[in-house]
Amino acid sequence: MLPEIGDRRIADGGPAERDRAGRRCVVALVISLPSLMRRDTGHGTPPDSTATGTIAPPDGGDVPTPHRGRLAWWRLRSWRKDVDVLARVRDGLQNLPDSADEDDAPASESELARPSESMPQGASAEAPSPSADPAIAAIRHTFASVAAAGDDAAAFFYARLFVRSPELRELFPPAMDEQRDRLFRALARIVESLSSPEELASYLTQLGRDHRKYSVEPSMYETVGAALVATLRTFAGADFTPAAEEAWVQTYTAASALMIRAAEDDSAAAPPYWPAEVVEHEKHGHGIAVLTVAPDEPLRYEPGQHLTVQTPRWPHVWRPYSIACRPREDGLIRLHVKAVPGGWVSNALVHHTFPGDEVILGSALGTMTLGAAENRDLLCIAGGTGLSPLKAIAEQAVRESAAGRHRQIFMFYGARRREELYDLRDLWRLSDAYPGFQLTSVTSDDPAFEGMQGNVGRVAARYMPHKDCEAYVAGPASMVRETVRVLTKAGIAREHIHFDDTLLASRQRVGSGT
Ligand SMILES: Cc1cc2nc3c(=O)[nH]c(=O)nc-3n(C[C@H](O)[C@H](O)[C@H](O)COP(=O)(O)OP(=O)(O)OC[C@H]3O[C@@H](n4cnc5c(N)ncnc54)[C@H](O)[C@@H]3O)c2cc1C
Ligand code: HEM
Repeated sequence: MLPEIGDRRIADGGPAERDRAGRRCVVALVISLPSLMRRDTGHGTPPDSTATGTIAPPDGGDVPTPHRGRLAWWRLRSWRKDVDVLARVRDGLQNLPDSADEDDAPASESELARPSESMPQGASAEAPSPSADPAIAAIRHTFASVAAAGDDAAAFFYARLFVRSPELRELFPPAMDEQRDRLFRALARIVESLSSPEELASYLTQLGRDHRKYSVEPSMYETVGAALVATLRTFAGADFTPAAEEAWVQTYTAASALMIRAAEDDSAAAPPYWPAEVVEHEKHGHGIAVLTVAPDEPLRYEPGQHLTVQTPRWPHVWRPYSIACRPREDGLIRLHVKAVPGGWVSNALVHHTFPGDEVILGSALGTMTLGAAENRDLLCIAGGTGLSPLKAIAEQAVRESAAGRHRQIFMFYGARRREELYDLRDLWRLSDAYPGFQLTSVTSDDPAFEGMQGNVGRVAARYMPHKDCEAYVAGPASMVRETVRVLTKAGIAREHIHFDDTLLASRQRVGSGT
């Protein structure tokens, strides 16, 4: 994974062989970690100790023996152990005494953290752990340096990656301008750990499956890891201590193992991507289109999830779109797309796609699903095409009501002007069919509109029928942030408010429902 260090360790006596597939090294690196952790952290504690917050080496220092050597390195690890590594990094970050001052996430992100995320078990904000791990502190410092470098760090990362491994360039989109830091930002998100370790592991599992569509091979994780460490070393300077490096390596290794195993397991069950025929294309004005597509093979998903779409016009360019219907017996999938000015994929889908055309779909992603609601009433707050995933959730809830699970669904649907409330007719049909569905339409910039006026999130927080609801929020990232804030203020517990994490992980201006 890390040529410089890897080579040094190999010179120190680590295994240097390539396996039959030509894969070198992550094994070598992983095997050499336990001794290095003991040497570098200086805690004098056993490598699998959690007492100091030190990250345990993979498999608790369990060095693979020759008879296990035929298994790939990621098969020698377990889901639990990988989650434990992520959990220790996350808890360690939260245990740092100066956590509030140095948090790299913007304040709004901190507000969005669930209560359990802002206070690790067994610790309190007033009494930070005295045994904060220097390696964990170094993760924070190096990450802060790289975050401060912004686009320069992302540019360095990709330049380093493509100079050393030019064959990887063709996996990426031809133009890597606006979006070039997506992969890099996601790697950073692992240490930001906005979600619980289990949620992060579930995210990585989905991401690993989804990476099959890029033709990513296990051996490439080593190359990407090397570029990541080179970037950290370059931009973090003296902060990139050996302990910091170990911590990053272990975190990246755990994340990679989760992704690779998920991709391998998935390959027996599902294709890497789904060619799909556009069977219907309805234009709704204001640059909005509703597409109905028929995947070649069944594509499994849960209501509330999104998938990525590639159009023939822009090969290798994928964009996320929410699925706008519950899983249907005929396998058809609906997407609501709003063309953004100058946008590659959205304009291709809205203005240059017709029935009979083919698009390519990636696997379903996202954890904003109905499962968390149990039997509680639903409060759905949608801005623009943010309606899409919430319509899927509402349809599923209506269906479940037929099976005896009766719930009230309070849907607040907002846009700037009446004409942009493009799906009202369908929603009225839903409310006619199911008396428990209550629709409130809201405009923010249309005084002549007869419905509610204002910001949809604030209107919902003010007029929601009761607080004991499970809330689902989708729309532009700024609208989602603001809505979560006002709902929390209005008394809905943070753990009962759901949104798609991916929206907020993207650049601020990107999001559904503009
Ligand atoms: C989880 C998730 C679900 C999403 N679901 C939907 C959905 O159901 N329907 C939908 O229409 N979109 C949805 N999006 C947004 C979608 O993924 C794309 O970002 C959007 O369609 C723009 O892509 P593009 O290729 O056309 O624009 P790009 O080529 O990526 O961008 C072109 C320019 O437009 C700017 N831009 C990009 N997105 C926006 C935006 N939303 N508003 C304003 N400016 C923007 C860029 O910064 C850039 O300057 C979702 C995004 C996420 C993360
Ligand atoms: C722990 C390791 C990794 C993480 C966390 C990660 C994360 C991500 C994320 C979040 C995205 C954006 C997905 C989207 O918007 O649809 C992405 C895109 C991508 N990743 Fe990875 N990735 C990892 C490893 C790799 C490796 C090893 C490769 C192989 C070269 C790779 C190749 C790609 C490609 C080609 C894209 C598409 C980029 C684009 O469309 O701009 N990733 N990755």
